[in-house]
Amino acid sequence: MTKSKEIPVQDYNIYLGDSQSAIASFLDRNRPSKIVVLVDDNTSVHCLPIIKEIATDGVITIPAGEKFKNLEVAQSIWDQLFTLKLDRNSLLINLGGGVIGDMGGFCASTYMRGMRFVQVPTTLLSQVDASIGGKLGIDYHGLKNSVGLFKNPEAVFVDTVYLDTLPYVELRSGFAEIIKHGLIADEDLWKDAQACGDLKSVSWQKIVEDSILVKKDVVDSDPFERGRRKILNFGHTIGHGVESVMLESAHPLLHGEAVAIGMIAESYISNQKKMISDQDLKAIGNYLIGLYGSPSLQEGLYDDFIVKMRHDKKNRGDEINFTLLESIGKARENCQADAQLIKESINYYNSLS
Ligand SMILES: NC(=O)c1ccc[n+]([C@@H]2O[C@H](COP(=O)([O-])OP(=O)(O)OC[C@H]3O[C@@H](n4cnc5c(N)ncnc54)[C@H](O)[C@@H]3O)[C@@H](O)[C@H]2O)c1
Repeated sequence: MTKSKEIPVQDYNIYLGDSQSAIASFLDRNRPSKIVVLVDDNTSVHCLPIIKEIATDGVITIPAGEKFKNLEVAQSIWDQLFTLKLDRNSLLINLGGGVIGDMGGFCASTYMRGMRFVQVPTTLLSQVDASIGGKLGIDYHGLKNSVGLFKNPEAVFVDTVYLDTLPYVELRSGFAEIIKHGLIADEDLWKDAQACGDLKSVSWQKIVEDSILVKKDVVDSDPFERGRRKILNFGHTIGHGVESVMLESAHPLLHGEAVAIGMIAESYISNQKKMISDQDLKAIGNYLIGLYGSPSLQEGLYDDFIVKMRHDKKNRGDEINFTLLESIGKARENCQADAQLIKESINYYNSLS
């Protein structure tokens, strides 16, 4: 087995490589009082067998999917932590995608005022994004991640072997965050992403590492999202608006599919504000439409998208806050766009289909 690579972030390490041996040596060094693994229905089948012998004191299984990232399921996790008689020195291993990481971290951080936890992200999205940066929480009152906290895990173990069983649409959804990392901060990563071709046959290690390095660099510089961290929001203002409205429709979109639409629309706004060139705008649109297709968005829904965008935690007062592109590989946070320009940008996206 090859030794995993260590990437330091704030007060913990990301271990990139074989998770089984990296977790085993972490446990040797840290000696928790008990070890429990949190999984969902899918990671229980596809991922748990890889580290099963590590779960010496139990496995907690919850139903898979965003709709279970709620208070009721969090309560069931707390109940099981009590039943298993865990103490603050016990360790919860969150083995799953962003839902497991966010909710498991939230439950661990609040149980007995905080027990130990580590993240073992098993989706592309959680490996390059959700597991890094300490944001934990659940959805509440119909709003995503509206109850939660910032708290770092003791370690993150990123092992691309888990991606072998991830369905293609989930892989493609997570890939949108890699594209975003390239567009906002690393032009070479943007080029490498475009060169990936068929996502089913990508060798993930390098591109996952490069993408992690972008997120690490941003969260290191602004852990509590007071300034620069907002650049990670590129594509997500319009993306979240579209995702939330379409979630209630007959044609829901995965997060990354909505973010792809958001990146096209927000690139258009960047172009209208004379930040990126016509040529860059065209390249971004062509690539994203080629990969994600172009589900058209009805004009009758535009106002609903804007209502949802106004709910974003990053807004102040009535203004809708955007991160826009200054050039490929460089983003600027705290930009504004009015409703008219937002609608025009969605029209632009629709015109590409
Ligand atoms: N904390 C943060 O900074 C942050 C950042 C971005 C997103 N998020 C959160 O992450 C969540 C989305 O994460 P996600 O896309 O990983 O969703 P997810 O956790 O729901 O996983 C997607 C699906 O893939 C399945 N799955 C996971 N790993 C698998 C594997 N290896 N093989 C087969 N199936 C597997 C899951 O069971 C689920 O059905 C959202 O709740 C979002 O709010 C958090």
